[in-house]
Amino acid sequence: MVNDKKVLYSGMQATGNLTIGNYLGALKNWITLNEEYECFFGVMDLHSITIRQQPADFRKRARNLLALYIAAGIDPVKNCIYYQSHVSAHAELGWILGCFTYMGELSRMTQFKDKAAKHSDNINAGLFTYPVLMAADILLYQTDYVPVGKDQQQHLEITRDIAQRFNSIYGDVFTIPEGYYGKRGAKVMSLQDPSKKMSKSDENPNGSIYLMDDADTVLRKCKRAVTDSDSEIRYSEDKPGVSNLLEIYSACTGKSIEESEKEFDGKGYGEFKPAVAEAVNSVLEPMHKEHERILKDKSYLDGIIKENNEKARYFANKTLRKVRKKVGFTDIPH
Ligand code: TRP
Repeated sequence: MVNDKKVLYSGMQATGNLTIGNYLGALKNWITLNEEYECFFGVMDLHSITIRQQPADFRKRARNLLALYIAAGIDPVKNCIYYQSHVSAHAELGWILGCFTYMGELSRMTQFKDKAAKHSDNINAGLFTYPVLMAADILLYQTDYVPVGKDQQQHLEITRDIAQRFNSIYGDVFTIPEGYYGKRGAKVMSLQDPSKKMSKSDENPNGSIYLMDDADTVLRKCKRAVTDSDSEIRYSEDKPGVSNLLEIYSACTGKSIEESEKEFDGKGYGEFKPAVAEAVNSVLEPMHKEHERILKDKSYLDGIIKENNEKARYFANKTLRKVRKKVGFTDIPH
């Protein structure tokens, strides 16, 4: 509990370009969570270096992502948005928790297996211990809730296991976090292969609409989106392409799926696809403007980063001090 509120923690990595799937499925739903929870949203840059990054590009991406959190509507005064690498307690607790995590547990992580297969030239130890660092992220803030997608559920499970193991040895140190399954975000699939989730690391850039795509690009991608042989605009399992576009349209306009179906009843893809693009652009354009404005205002953004960093440190260090004591490290003189 912080300020009588339960704690909610999440974060994104500054790798790849965020897609409208990340926005409609996650980011957008984070905006109002602070009304009920004390929210921490990290830019998970320590995790990002498990894959090789080009430094200048990486630095820019991380700053862009933090500014994007704000541009998307997360209030940086009411929420704590910060860089993971600015709070050294993450790495320290990560080390400690690594000593309470078994090789066997980590070997079972499906994301490790997937990433190792994809980056077979760089299967580093960080990739293997990735879930331990993630556990540290979550446990440092005494988190009650973590909004997680399917792909991160296993990581939340291992976080709970590590926390319980630690608590059973040392007493009540960590809050045991739970998944947050509030209002469901939109599930956005690839425009080119609607059986796959829209992904920021898709090799085919036409499959994803990136948050930074301009209006023409969005229109082109929507026009190229795969549909089906008939021309009906209807939400149905056997029409995954059209259903996906309807889902996007509905999430961007706030209209229900039924309303959206009705609106395009009797109309063809020639009308539908540009309308989807327009709906997406009406969300992206104000976001782009705001993003640009924030990035230009260097002193504002630096101020936000500094303040939030101090706030994150305060809470993280509180937990870390407790852990140090429990484990039996000697006091740091000051
Ligand atoms: N692994 C998460 C992802 O790739 C990012 C992440 C790192 C995270 N630490 C976290 C998410 C803690 C939630 C909580 O999506």
